[in-house]
Amino acid sequence: MHRVLCLVIALVAMTPPCDLQLPSLMGQPQIMDSMRLANILMERPVDGPSIRKECRMLNSTDFQKIVDAINRAKLDTRVRPNVHDAYSYLHAHPEVNKGAHGGPAFLPYHRVFIFLYEKLLRIYDRTISLCYWDTTVEPENMLWSSAWTPELFGNVQGQVTTGFARNWITPINPLERAGAVQGRPMNDEDVKVVLSKSRLGEISMPAASVNANVELMHNFVHTYVGGIMGQVETAAYDPIFWFHHTYIDCLYERFRDQQKKLGVQPMRDWPAEHGDSAHAPFAPMRLGSLRNIDGAQEFFSKEIVRCEPLPACTEDSQCGTYLRCDKARRKCISDTMRPPEQAGGVWSSVDNIVGSFWRNRLASINNPLTGSSFGLGSLFQQPEMFRFSSSG
Ligand SMILES: *[C@@H]1O[C@H](CO)[C@@H](O)[C@H](O)[C@H]1NC(C)=O
Repeated sequence: MHRVLCLVIALVAMTPPCDLQLPSLMGQPQIMDSMRLANILMERPVDGPSIRKECRMLNSTDFQKIVDAINRAKLDTRVRPNVHDAYSYLHAHPEVNKGAHGGPAFLPYHRVFIFLYEKLLRIYDRTISLCYWDTTVEPENMLWSSAWTPELFGNVQGQVTTGFARNWITPINPLERAGAVQGRPMNDEDVKVVLSKSRLGEISMPAASVNANVELMHNFVHTYVGGIMGQVETAAYDPIFWFHHTYIDCLYERFRDQQKKLGVQPMRDWPAEHGDSAHAPFAPMRLGSLRNIDGAQEFFSKEIVRCEPLPACTEDSQCGTYLRCDKARRKCISDTMRPPEQAGGVWSSVDNIVGSFWRNRLASINNPLTGSSFGLGSLFQQPEMFRFSSSG
């Protein structure tokens, strides 16, 4: 009966039939809504540069502002199933994200992808900037990292029941992680090798050597967190995705700085050997009406991305609350915690009460978006700054 109903809906609404395998714990995102959302975000004015620090270097007020905005997007149901997951779905869609992985468009694509996500968060709080998660500071046993405390990203094993994303449901499943089973964090050597190269093609698939391949290093971190983060199709539903990619974007920015010093113009640097045609410089990025090469424009470096590196430390007090100083390396590294207790019991029911309190609160907050509905957003007009100039 269900199958018949799905087919009828599919024929009438001209949408793909329901996937009968997936448990539908919440409404599924609709790709047209998600693309429209990206268009609307593209059109929104930029609220100023993005000052990006390691998340653990923010004080609790500043980190709380970011995660409050994330939770407001998650509870905002003006787009199905909510604004957060509708946007994240762009990363999941096999047709729409074609140039996002497996080639030189990886870095420019994700640069724009997180730029728009940050704009999305700034709908709720225009004063915030994304922060980054630097896995090169993690301890040998990542399960002991300060990243997994309730004040930061929450637990990394099993269903996420602590931290700001506790008890989240994603369009696929409850949010879950499977930390430290596969993959690995990034390390200083990875960064050093990347910064020793001067061309995008040398650090990108398909031509990069294994030890200079940024996308591959980044994949290891995805699988290291595991669970929802471990699959391309679902990764962006785990909010740690955005902090991981903000780090990758900061590394991209350092690489670009290095290129400029060596006389290479990043916006003109695209490898001839780019593999799949979705990775050609002028192939559509499918975020607004941009092309892949647009993500390599100076606009982002000049107007948006300001990454504050971790300090070269001499004492713990320079490294914030969650990091301490490795004096031999003059590097802030993760403080280590006791392995997290199995969460649950009385605390998760308290969380659920808090969660429904917030749901009710947020439902009464006025529509912060310009315009009355996403459906009526005007089509994205390509701004001057995104036009690729072939002269000069
Ligand atoms: C947190 O840091 C910001 C600067 O980013 C500062 O303006 C604010 O006063 C700090 N808040 C606390 C409670 O220390």
